Parts: sequence; C-alpha cells; structure tokens
Amino acid sequence: MKPVPDAVEIAPNTHWIGALDPSLREFDIILKTANGTTYNAYCVRGTQGVAIIDTVKASHAEEFFRRLEQVARYDEISTIVLNHLEPDHTGALPELMRRAPQAKLYISAKAQLMLKALVKNTELDYAVVETGDSVDLGGRTLRFFSTPFLHWPDTQCTLVEELGVLFSGDVFGCHFCDTRLFNDKVGDFRFSFEYYYQHIMRPFREYVLDALALLEPLSLTVIAPAHGPILRDAPKSYMQRYRQLASPLLHNEIGSNHKSLLVFYISSYGNTAQMAHAVAEGAETVTGVRVSLYDLQAMGNLPFVDLIEEADGIAFGSPTINGDAVKPVWDLLSSLAVIKVSEKLGAAFGSYGWSGEAINMIEDRLRGLKLRVPLKGVRARLIPTEGELEKCRDLGKQLAEHLTGTVERRVISLSELLAQE
Ligand code: FEO
Repeated sequence: MKPVPDAVEIAPNTHWIGALDPSLREFDIILKTANGTTYNAYCVRGTQGVAIIDTVKASHAEEFFRRLEQVARYDEISTIVLNHLEPDHTGALPELMRRAPQAKLYISAKAQLMLKALVKNTELDYAVVETGDSVDLGGRTLRFFSTPFLHWPDTQCTLVEELGVLFSGDVFGCHFCDTRLFNDKVGDFRFSFEYYYQHIMRPFREYVLDALALLEPLSLTVIAPAHGPILRDAPKSYMQRYRQLASPLLHNEIGSNHKSLLVFYISSYGNTAQMAHAVAEGAETVTGVRVSLYDLQAMGNLPFVDLIEEADGIAFGSPTINGDAVKPVWDLLSSLAVIKVSEKLGAAFGSYGWSGEAINMIEDRLRGLKLRVPLKGVRARLIPTEGELEKCRDLGKQLAEHLTGTVERRVISLSELLAQE
C-alpha cells in the first residue's frame, strides 16, 4: 500500500488531516487491533472561517500538524470542534490551541470537565452546543447532534449541512488502518467494524438507538468517523447495521408481557445443582416469569452473555472452593462488561464445605456491576437439607415477585447482609 503523505480531500474544501498508526496491536488494553488504527481529524473550509474537527493522539501530533498545514494556516482557524475528548482525539489539542489561539472550541455540556482536565487553562474560550445548534463558516454550516454515551457521556456528531458530511466521532468507526482510507478502496474491514461495535458501543445500545433516531433522517454523502475507513460508499448501510446490532439479539421466546429469570449454576457433587433446581422451581410458581436453568460447566460464555443481555434477572449458584467462587462463574461475570446489566436483578446461592464465602463474593460483584440484589442468598453446608431447599424455593419465588413488581423494591446492603450472618 502506498503511504499517505498528504491531506486527502473527502468533499469540496473538506480534508482528512488525521494520522495513521498501522503497527498498533492493542488499543486501550481491551481491544486487539490486527490492522492498527487511524486517528481521523478533518478540516472544513468556509468563506468566513476554517474548522478543525477533532485532533489525534499526542504521539501522532506531528503527522496531524503536517497535514493541517497543507490545507490551512493557523491564523485562519476560527473553530475547533471536539466530538469526543478521549486522549486519542485530543492529544494534539493543547498544541493546536497554542498555534491557533483565536479559535473557539465547540463541545457538548458533558465535555466541559474533561476539557478543563486536559487543558489546564481557566481562560478557555469555548461554547457548549447541543442538538440543533450550529456554526456558520460561510457557505458551510456545522450542525451538532448530541449522541451521549457513544461511548462516553460527552460524545456528539457534527454535520456539514451543505455537503451531507457527518463527522461521527467513534460512532461508525473501527480500528483498521489502510492507507487507501475510503471504504470502497480499503481491504475487507467488516470484522473490525463489528468487533468495534461489540466492544465499544454494545453496552450502550439504548443510546445507540436514540442516536440513530437523530441521525437516520439526515441526507448524507459521507460518514467520516474518528477511526478507520471513511464511509462514502453506501454510508447509510452502516447506520442500518448499527440498528440491527443494537436491536435485541434474541426474540420470539419471551413475550413482552413476561419477565425472564436465568439461573446459572456449577456443581461439584450435585449439591449446588439441587439448590439451582429448587430456585428455579420456586420462581416458576410466579405467573409472568419465564425461568431458564443453565449448567455453566457445559458451555462457554458467549451464548450466556447474549442471554443475560436480554434477561431481567440472573441468579448464580456456585460452590465455595478455597474460599472463593469457582472460575466459570467469575469468567462469565467478567464477560459482562460488553453489555448493559445495571438495574437487572441479581442473586446468589450455593453449597460449601467449610466457610461458604462464594455467595457474598458473587453478590458483591453483582452489586459492583450495578445489579439490584434485593435478597440475601442461600447457603447450604454440603448436602442441602429439605429446609435449605425450601429456602432456595423461597429465594426463587421472591426473585420472581421482584421481577413482576409484586413486592416492594429494595436493595440489600453488604453491611446488612453481613449483620445477618
Ligand atoms: Fe476513539 Fe473513545 O476514543
């Protein structure tokens, strides 16, 4: 592939002035980047001003300034738009502000704290914008769309109305570096687009749908994201894919008038399994709740993550081994970072030999993930007695009642739990 020495025009008087990072193999610790990434920044020229849309990671600032200087003088820059303030897009901002001190910054309301943390300057000249606000560059109108939580609270998109070019920040982006830049020229990057969505946007799918409602009606020629290929061929198809990805993965089984409770368990000698069946049995006595029971020993995490994303409540049964819950439980719990689980209902139970710490540990983790844990879990030493199984049935029944809203909503605190030990 040929290098990209220059700024690249993506629409009349509108240039890509970003930076390439082809050798990056890991982004923010959590993302693998087989093809590296790009930090896309853009320059829009009007008759009365020049706007810079986003900047690049600090380590790549020189590349950004070199391309910027090919299409604009610093004293022409009237406007700097920051669609999102993570350091991969604001690393070059302090230096840009030093070189173009007259430029006014445009950010979302939620970006203010970040901006002040990034630029240690109390004299900042910035304007807070929201959906519908605009900036006139002379023949080029920048219109802002507030798209919070895609994937940070501060995120927004910016449209050049006259051109139909949407600068979308991380949204519709991916980590894929290819010097051919445009989606109709680069290699097949579909896997990267999907991977990026699954890891970055998926936990915020309700916000994705809100953003799509704002953006889908726009007449677009180009979507210019902050990472990866510039989407000029069939740009709306990427919105359609986002809509598909943000829609529930599982359907037609649980009616909208039913709540879903998933009971996961793993069992060394069948004791925790007995308890899991009793929890499920109790929950099934409540009308309006669909109960599902899964043995964690028999399946990897992937289908369970999808199921949990759609569920209203989840209960985990684990034995205690060496003072801890067992690895498959922690593996599944640690896989939930890619979905939204806050406000779901959580519970724990299990058999133990000596100390039984697993239950409290799981409950604590569920609380850490912001699930509601309204009931104290059930523990049984070795083989559960009929009385302990009855407690499990009661746990299941009460969980189901919480799901259907037939009992008063409450969250039990860790100190309350410990006091009951
Ligand atoms: Fe590309 Fe959320 O920064």
